[in-house]
Amino acid sequence: MGKEAASSFARWFALNDLNINVDLKAVCDLNQTVLDWYRNVPTVELLTTDYLELLARPDIDVVYVALPHNLHEKYYLDVLAAGKDLLAEKPFGIDLEAARRVKDEADKLGRFVRCSSEMPFLPGPQRVLKEVRSGRLGQIIEIKAGFLHSSDLDRSKPINWKRQEEFCGEIGVMGDLGMHVLHLPLRLGWKPERVYAQLQKIITTRPDGKGGMAECDTWNNATLNTEVNIEDHLVPMTLEMKRIAPGETNTWYIQVLGTEGGVRYSTKDIKTLWIFKTEGEQWWQRTDLGFKGMPFATITGGIFEPGFPDCFMQMLAAYIAEREGVLGNRFGCVTPQEALDSHYIFDAAIKSFKSQTLEMIDYKDVLV
Ligand SMILES: NC(=O)c1ccc[n+]([C@@H]2O[C@H](COP(=O)([O-])OP(=O)(O)OC[C@H]3O[C@@H](n4cnc5c(N)ncnc54)[C@H](O)[C@@H]3O)[C@@H](O)[C@H]2O)c1
Repeated sequence: MGKEAASSFARWFALNDLNINVDLKAVCDLNQTVLDWYRNVPTVELLTTDYLELLARPDIDVVYVALPHNLHEKYYLDVLAAGKDLLAEKPFGIDLEAARRVKDEADKLGRFVRCSSEMPFLPGPQRVLKEVRSGRLGQIIEIKAGFLHSSDLDRSKPINWKRQEEFCGEIGVMGDLGMHVLHLPLRLGWKPERVYAQLQKIITTRPDGKGGMAECDTWNNATLNTEVNIEDHLVPMTLEMKRIAPGETNTWYIQVLGTEGGVRYSTKDIKTLWIFKTEGEQWWQRTDLGFKGMPFATITGGIFEPGFPDCFMQMLAAYIAEREGVLGNRFGCVTPQEALDSHYIFDAAIKSFKSQTLEMIDYKDVLV
C-alpha cells in the first residue's frame, strides 16, 4: 500500500482544486527490494530500514503507516510521540484495546489522525450518501453492505501474515475488510446496537512457501447481522466481510432500501448507480456515473471511469485538505472515533460468535 500512496503523490498535480503541495520525502521498509522500488520517486530523500531515522526528520509532517496489523499500535504511537500527524491503515490497532489506546493518545497530543478507507470516495458511494441524506428513501427498511474477496479460494496460495491470527489479530477478516464496510454506515450515523455474528474458518492450512504446510488460523469470512436504530425504528443492517466469496475480486457494495425509494452500488459495475423508485410501477433506474462525482475535481474528464488508484488518491487528498482546514463539505476520511467504533463492533462480533448470542454493542469512549 506504500507504493499506492507513492503513486498518488507522484500525480498530485492531477488534482485541480487542492492547492496544497505534498512531497513524499522518506520511506521505511525492512525489505531492501521494496525500498529500492522507491528510487523511482524523485522527491524521496531518505530510504531507510530504521523508522526512527524517518521520525527524527524535522521536515516530515505526516506519516502513512501501512504495516502488518500486529505492528500498528506501536508504530502509530511512535509516530504520534514524534510529533507527526498520522494516516493509519486499518484496522486501527490489532484489537479494541489497541484502538482505544491509539485514539486516546492522538486526542491527548492533539495530532491530526485519520484511518484509511478509500472506496467511499468513488462517485457511486458518494451518490448513495447523497440519496440517503436527501430523505427520498422514506423510512429505512434495511441496509446491506460488504467487501468481498475471492483469491483465497485458491488452496495453493501461500500463507502470509494476513492469514495468521498472530499477525492479523483475533478479528481476522474483520480487521482487514471491516473498516471499508463500516465507513459509510458510520458516517451516516448508523451505529449498530446489537450484533449476531457468523464467523467462518474455511481453508485452514496453506502452503508455507518452503515446501510444507502452515496453519491458517484466521477467520476467512464474517457475516455480521446487526441492528441499528434509525429514527426510532430498529433496522436490520447486514455487513459482509469475506476473503472467500467465490467470483468476487475486491467487490465493495452497499444497498439501502426504504419505504419510498432505494439505492444500490457495487464496484463490480464501477460506474453504475441503481436508484429504486415507485411511481405507479416499481422500478430500478440505472445511471452511468463518470468521474465527476469525485469529491476532488481532477484533470480527468467527467465521462471517464474511475478506478482503485483514483479513489485512493481522493482519500489522500481528503486527508490533506481536512488537515489544512479546507475540506469544506466534501467527504472526509475515517475519523479515529469511527475507527474505534468499528472495533467495538468487531469485538462484540467475536463475543457473539463465541457464545452464539445476540450481543449488545457497548460503545465506551474512555479508557478504563
Ligand atoms: N486501504 C486498502 O485498500 C488496503 C489494501 C491492502 C492492505 N491494506 C492495509 O495496509 C497495511 C499493509 O498491508 P499491505 O497489503 O501493504 O502489506 P504488505 O505485506 O504487502 O506490505 C507490508 C510492508 O511492510 C514491511 N514491513 C514489515 N515489518 C516492517 C517493519 N517492522 N518496519 C518497516 N517495514 C516493515 C514489509 O517489508 C512490507 O513491504 C495493512 O494494515 C493492511 O490491512 C489496506
